[in-house]
Order: sequence, then C-alpha cells, then structure tokens
Amino acid sequence: MTTCDYRPGLEGVPATQSSISYVDGKEGILEYRGIRIGDIAQHSSFLETAYLLIWGGLPTHHELQAFEHQVQYHRRLKYRIRDMMKCFPESGHPMDALQACAAALGLFHSRRALEDPTYVQDAVVRLIAKIPTMVAAFALMRKGNDPVQPRDDLSYAANFLYMLNEQEPDPLAARIFDVCLILHAEHTINASTFSAMVTASTLTDPYAVVASAVGTLAGPLHGGANEEVIAMLKEIGSVENVRPYIDARIANKEKIMGFGHRVYKVKDPRAETLQRLAEQLFDKEGRDAYYDIALELELVVKEKLGHKGIYPNVDFYSGLVYRKLGIPTDLFTPIFAIARVAGWLAHWKEQIGKNRIFRPTQIYEGPHDQRYVPLENRLQLWEKQP
Ligand code: ACO
Repeated sequence: MTTCDYRPGLEGVPATQSSISYVDGKEGILEYRGIRIGDIAQHSSFLETAYLLIWGGLPTHHELQAFEHQVQYHRRLKYRIRDMMKCFPESGHPMDALQACAAALGLFHSRRALEDPTYVQDAVVRLIAKIPTMVAAFALMRKGNDPVQPRDDLSYAANFLYMLNEQEPDPLAARIFDVCLILHAEHTINASTFSAMVTASTLTDPYAVVASAVGTLAGPLHGGANEEVIAMLKEIGSVENVRPYIDARIANKEKIMGFGHRVYKVKDPRAETLQRLAEQLFDKEGRDAYYDIALELELVVKEKLGHKGIYPNVDFYSGLVYRKLGIPTDLFTPIFAIARVAGWLAHWKEQIGKNRIFRPTQIYEGPHDQRYVPLENRLQLWEKQP
C-alpha cells in the first residue's frame, strides 16, 4: 500500500461507499436516496423520510402505516429508564442525559445476531420511537415534573411538542417541526455519522452505535451550533450592532456561528427551506428582535465572507424556529439527534451489510528508542524545562 498524504479532519478522503444521501456542495444539492431534499420537505413526513433512508425506498401506503403504528406502539419508556433519569442532575446537559438513556436502552434488548432482520427492525423502531420521549421526559423531570405520556392520536412531530410543552401544538407548528426533522435526518458522513459507522463496524449493538453518535453530535462545531447562534443573537442585541459585531469577529479571526460548512460553499439547501418556514412562522406568530438581527446578520456575512463560500448553514435558522416554537435552547441539539437517528440507523444498517472494521493508520511524530527511567530518577515536568 502506498503512503497517502495526511489530510487533517480527513477532508476529502472517501471513507465509505454509500447510497443513502448525496451532497453537491458547489451546487447546493442534497438528496436522500436520490430525491432532492426540497421535494421531500414539501411532500413527506419525518417517519416516511426515516423509512426511505433506512429501508432504501419510499414505503407503500401499507408499509408506512405499519411503520407508523409500530413507532407509535413503542413510544413509551420503561419505568426503569424513567427511574434512572430521576437520578440525573437537573443541571446536566440534555445531550448527556440522552446519550446515557440511549445506551441504557441496550440493557433491555439483548444483543442478538445482527443478521436477524427482526432484531434490526425492532432496534430501528425502538430507537426512533423512544428517543423523542427521552428528550421530552428529561426536559420535564429536570423541572421536577412528571413526564407526559405520549398520545396515540398525535403525529410523531405533534406528539413530541405535546410531550414537551404539555399542550397540543398548533398544526402549523407541528408541520414546521416535522419539516425540521426531515431536514436534519441525514447528511452523508458528518462527524456523528462517521462516529456511528466506526462503532457499528465493531458489530456492537445499535444502542451503543446511537449513543456514540449522540456524544459526537454534542460538540459546538457540529450539532451544538444552533444553541450558539441564539447566544450570539442575544449578545448582538440589536440590528445596529450587527455590523460592528461581525467586523470585530472577523478582525479577531473568530468564527460566526451558524455560518460555513465543510461541504457547502453556497447556501445550504436546508437553510433555504428553513428560512421559508421561519418566514411563515414569524408572519403568523409575529416577528421579534432575534429574527430581524438574523436577517441583517445574513446580509452582512454574505457581504464580508461570501467570497470565501461562507453562507448560512442549517443551524442558523433552526435555532430561530425552535426558539419561536417555545423550545428551550439546550434542547436544540437533542432535537437534532431525534432527527439524525434516522441517518445514523441507515448508515448502521448499510455498514453491517458490508462490514469491515474501521482501522485507519497514523503518522507517528514522537521519539523512538527512549530509555525507561526508574520512578525515583524521574524529574518533575518543571525541572526538565530549561
Ligand atoms: N465564520 C467566519 N469564518 C469562517 C467560518 C465562520 N463560521 N467558517 C469558516 N470560516 C473561514 C475560516 O476562518 C477559514 O478562513 P481562512 O482560510 O482565511 O483561514 C475558512 O473559512 C475555512 O474554514 P475552516 O474552519 O477550515 O473550514 P472547515 O471546513 O474546517 O469548517 C465548520 C467547517 C466547522 C462548519 C466551520 O465553518 C465553523 O466552525 N462554522 C461555525 C460553526 C457551525 O455553524 N457549525 C455547524 C455546521 S453545520 C452542522 O454541523 C449541521
């Protein structure tokens, strides 16, 4: 094997062959199983999209109904998971709570042969069904409230908002939230999906796969960016402050959250769709200062950094929409996880179908032939320094 150039962050290095999704970063195209994201967002639902991603094709009416029914049936949490959540500190981040709960789910479902299609189907249904319930339950339990039981007459998206806010959402809010889930469901090999694939390649169980992906998604350079967007809008405070804020950040070589993408060098197509949804929502519910600041921010960043291919990414508008839906800021990333679990599971299934364990190489930079120094002869770090 020839030695390859080292590419920090593995930029541009193919790590798999996949037929799940496709991104053209120059043209701003995203497809799930060959279908443009705009078409899916307009016509589909999150559960249908999850089915498409995981099973490889759009379901028939009967298949979709069966899948929706199974997910609905498995929404409830075992009381032991709820008891475990009661012991979590209220101040803990909901992503950490979700990671612990996703891993704990594996304790209840024994590791069976991954070749068994029933095991695969059961795991897919359970994870998609229970993750929203876990997120909503932790959100209520950390305030000292009992979790709200899922309602069978509500759609997947409407039921989550109901469990979170303890009231049935308005149909526009539920539809917008459903589209947000569709837009975040899959995006080729991003960091969390790669993490899921590496974990999957050891042939561990799917609950561990999802738990490792949740841990990876939690970082501010990935799923955490929409939380940071809201913090940034708050810090800017007014439309007049946008320009000086951006100038200062650029001068200090600091990143502007919600902008830029490793792959997209034009506006992220998901941001285009989300911006339209945000407009609908703000037209209905009334504009606020954050929305006006965001619009000005987009214009100023485009003017200053558009030549570098820095445009809004999906997180720029998702934070605004979630805030308007009354969702606490620290639940933005867990909501990303609710959606992305579909993509993670699609990649898990693809990975185990043609598995080879991930084992890349490294370029060693350290010393060789060092002497083992007995403990009593070792110098403290500061004594070694000149
Ligand atoms: N604000 C200002 N400048 C930026 C930004 C930004 N948000 N993003 C990239 N740049 C600039 C860099 O300073 C760099 O400029 P230089 O060439 O003059 O040094 C150039 O663009 C390339 O930047 P990199 O950091 O090398 O780009 P990379 O592909 O590694 O990073 C990333 C992509 C991590 C998303 C980056 O754009 C970023 O940190 N954005 C802010 C965080 C964010 O919004 N993350 C969400 C991503 S979407 C998602 O995970 C769903």
